[in-house]
Amino acid sequence: MPQSLLIRNGRVIDPSQEIDETASLLLVDGRIEAIGRDVGGGSGEVIDAGGQIVSPGLIDMHVHLREPGQEHKETIETGTAAAAAGGFTAVACMPNTDPPLHDDTQVEYVLRQAARVGHCRVYPIGALTRDRAGRQLAEIGLMVRAGAVAFSDDGDGIADAGVCLQAMRYVGMFGKLLIQHCEDRTLTGGCMNAGPTATRLGLPGMPGIAEEVMTTRDITLVRATGTRYHAAHVSTAGMVDAVRRARAEGLPVSTEVCPHHLLLTDEACSTYDPNTKMSPPLRSAADVEACLEGVRDGTIEALITDHAPHTHSEKEVGFQNAPFGIIGLETSLALFAKALIDPGLQTWPQLIEKMSTRPAQLLQVPGGTLKVGQPADVTIFDPEREWTIDVERSRSLSRNSPFDGWQVRCPVTATIVGGKVRYRG
Ligand code: DOR
Repeated sequence: MPQSLLIRNGRVIDPSQEIDETASLLLVDGRIEAIGRDVGGGSGEVIDAGGQIVSPGLIDMHVHLREPGQEHKETIETGTAAAAAGGFTAVACMPNTDPPLHDDTQVEYVLRQAARVGHCRVYPIGALTRDRAGRQLAEIGLMVRAGAVAFSDDGDGIADAGVCLQAMRYVGMFGKLLIQHCEDRTLTGGCMNAGPTATRLGLPGMPGIAEEVMTTRDITLVRATGTRYHAAHVSTAGMVDAVRRARAEGLPVSTEVCPHHLLLTDEACSTYDPNTKMSPPLRSAADVEACLEGVRDGTIEALITDHAPHTHSEKEVGFQNAPFGIIGLETSLALFAKALIDPGLQTWPQLIEKMSTRPAQLLQVPGGTLKVGQPADVTIFDPEREWTIDVERSRSLSRNSPFDGWQVRCPVTATIVGGKVRYRG
């Protein structure tokens, strides 16, 4: 018996086919079988999606799943459960694990573990350098063969321009995406954005130019190599501008932004709450405005979480000593809606494109589309219903979010991966 699922009557939005209409979607044996107004049939479950948005499964191209080695913060099982609850049918996981994902055995481990206990698809991102130390290239070729979809030393940028050039050439040979954590450590070293708030709080600052210096250096290297380059978690006006100019020049440069860099400024650090500490840090109001404009004008192509779980005891050690990072998988759709849909900066098709279709294209992975024959990865959410963020209900092992108690909209009602309902709201 074929396994079928019919999703009736929803507002079906698929940016890959420019579809935005009330329609039905039939999923059979893990694939999209049919899409259209008059689609029916199938002998399996029927979901009535009246009043809801039905989109290609959301894809988060920047998360930290912490396995192997830091299973007290998150595991592939708990991280992907949080992802599915947030509407994600796939996540790409960063290599700053312990050991790092720097050769084929670790990449294979993640893929095996994800197949065994994962609640959504997992695409490993391999490290660019051995031990993420920025000196010697990692086993990039072997990792490509094992299934790594992109390469990054995220958490750290590659300081040495020569190593970065070599990494670009190598990653470029495989046609993969190089994702850079843009931060020149010779210019930074603090714990929050450098500016009047840091001075008032007596905390050492992280100036925005530390990001911009590495980004502009890298753009010069992209001009020399032609490698596809993705600047991770943009947070400053200068960095948005650098990417905008590179794109205008026709260079294969892209970037992404997190919800917190669109909704919070460094003022949020005034309470010394360690859950307002992340890297890059919360910036000035002018930087937030520039990031919002970057999304609006299409300079920023992907919306990500940078889901970075840390335990309570790790975070509760004073602002200066706390690790960088916040969780985000279960709240990002709602927070992006607040930042971008509510003020009219994006339409739903534009937002879905940046949370699904573009990430799939940048990573060159399946998904991001509801085209017939493609994997049946689908997200259903209610654009109107309100809910309150409660970190205690998170499926993540960690609770480090600055958004606890926020009033938001857009709860996820179902996350369907390969035709199977992996989460029901
Ligand atoms: O805040 C962050 N946390 N930024 C990063 O780049 C790394 C991440 C982590 O792994 O905790």
